[in-house]
Amino acid sequence: MNKEFDVIVIGAGPAGYVAAIRAAQQGLKTACIEKNMDANNKPILGGTCLNVGCIPSKALLEASHEYAKAKHELGDFGISISDVQIDVTKMQTRKNGVVKKLTDGIGLLFSANKVESIAGSAKILANRQVEVSDANGEKTIYSAKNIIIASGSKPVEIPPIPYTDNLVLDSTGALELQEVPQKLGIVGAGVIGLELGSVWSRLGSQVVAFEAMEDFLATADKDIAKQARKSLEVQGIQILTGTRVLGTQIKENSVLLTYTLADGTEETQEFDKVIVSVGRKPVTENLLSADSGVNLDERGFIFVNKNCETSVSGIYAIGDVVRGPMLAHKASEEAILVVDSIVGEKHSIDYDFIPKVVYTTPEIAWVGLNEQRAKALNLDYKVGTFPFSAVGRALASNSAEGMVKIIADAKTDRILGIHIFGAGAGEMIHQGIMALEFSASAEDVALMCFAHPTLSEAMHEAALAVNNMAIHAVNKSKR
Ligand code: FAD
Ligand code: NAI
Repeated sequence: MNKEFDVIVIGAGPAGYVAAIRAAQQGLKTACIEKNMDANNKPILGGTCLNVGCIPSKALLEASHEYAKAKHELGDFGISISDVQIDVTKMQTRKNGVVKKLTDGIGLLFSANKVESIAGSAKILANRQVEVSDANGEKTIYSAKNIIIASGSKPVEIPPIPYTDNLVLDSTGALELQEVPQKLGIVGAGVIGLELGSVWSRLGSQVVAFEAMEDFLATADKDIAKQARKSLEVQGIQILTGTRVLGTQIKENSVLLTYTLADGTEETQEFDKVIVSVGRKPVTENLLSADSGVNLDERGFIFVNKNCETSVSGIYAIGDVVRGPMLAHKASEEAILVVDSIVGEKHSIDYDFIPKVVYTTPEIAWVGLNEQRAKALNLDYKVGTFPFSAVGRALASNSAEGMVKIIADAKTDRILGIHIFGAGAGEMIHQGIMALEFSASAEDVALMCFAHPTLSEAMHEAALAVNNMAIHAVNKSKR
């Protein structure tokens, strides 16, 4: 007789481990299967996010930010440090320590919540059975009343520039560099390209980012993207939009990258390393037996309805392996949605209210509708903006770059979108999410009392500016 669970979760990333903990909290007998294993064949928990994604990238961003601040900014405060050095090995050791603390923490949470953690690669068979192959290739079959697929995603590889050991890297390789490359090429100026490009640029690399699209950060609000691009270029990252990478030639210790510029000119540049960050794709290999009944959509993601249920009743899929933004917080939200619906607690996710944050300096963050989308939808809208350069705290802390932009319905004044480029944008954006979730009007936010002096005062003033009532700037709200 196969061991039976109420819930089997496949994958222990922010979709899977959150689902497993929530299921156990809801009193369900739960197992979580993870194929990523350590030398002792124990599962490595945390998925992409904790091991090779959100957390290690932020540890490196933080380290490189502190270095750049000490080297270039502290002088403005009257602090002089004569010999600022970066020890890349130490920076990497610290990063690995942060990762280990968090991944071990999930193990503790699994034990405390009585989640059975199983190491191995899972495959879904017919009749809600799951076959697990362990490190030695031995197979065990489990059955479950409910299965939650959370197998995540992996980097896309493109034909003109295949990954090579140590020279053409994906994001995982880019997080592991042990020395600062002199010249670094980045193919794909999206979120990973900008974040990891920032890390190595701050540490001294000359960075060139090749972006296929004409628009920079096409999903961000155009005004914000324009300011962010200018800022990154001033920091030393060269951004070439509308470029097409044609191919690479691998030399002993470098890569020759050939590309066409937006005007069609063909050029070749030599780089010490190249990072390819052109998107990620769902992980579904060896996951579904032919008779599992679970279908993929036309883009290779697991097909799900709005409740994250697949084509088979009782089998769900969440996180990067299904449609929607590939973000850890989206993955975890879907985990809660699915588990709660299994125990009869129904709620829903408003995908329009999922925040996006790019952890550059300054940060870029937004939630809701941007102005180009409001235009495309033919909405009657109004806009309020407020620059950090007019915020006392921002000036005091040398963070005067950027702005807050709020888009509101012209008639009802209801806030439709909030866009921030500035220090702490990734924290401040949560005020915007609350405003959207509670259907706040710009006036609602304008009538709140914000603490002084804080960076958040830019949010308050932008809300005032929507109706031409900002106090600390000349009002020029457009509609
Ligand atoms: P994953 O985290 O990919 O986890 C899936 C897990 O399933 C893996 O551990 C995998 O080994 C396991 N698995 C797969 N197949 C099987 C199988 N057959 N059997 C058993 N186990 C299996 N998002 C943010 O929100 N904020 C950020 O700042 C951010 N930064 C990022 C930086 C980088 C460099 C990268 C690469 C990504 C970043 N992301 C960020 C994206 C984020 O990491 C993902 O959206 C998130 O990890 C998705 O969670 P998931 O659980 O769906 O998948
Ligand atoms: P992305 O979709 O953010 O960016 C990829 C970029 O590459 C796009 O701008 C695209 O136009 C460009 N591109 C595609 N093909 C190209 C080509 N052949 N040549 C040049 N450019 C090309 O994907 P990215 O950066 O790989 O990140 C993957 C996922 O990870 C994203 O969906 C993102 O949500 C998530 N992530 C989130 C982070 C965050 O929330 N801060 C940080 C890092 C990753």
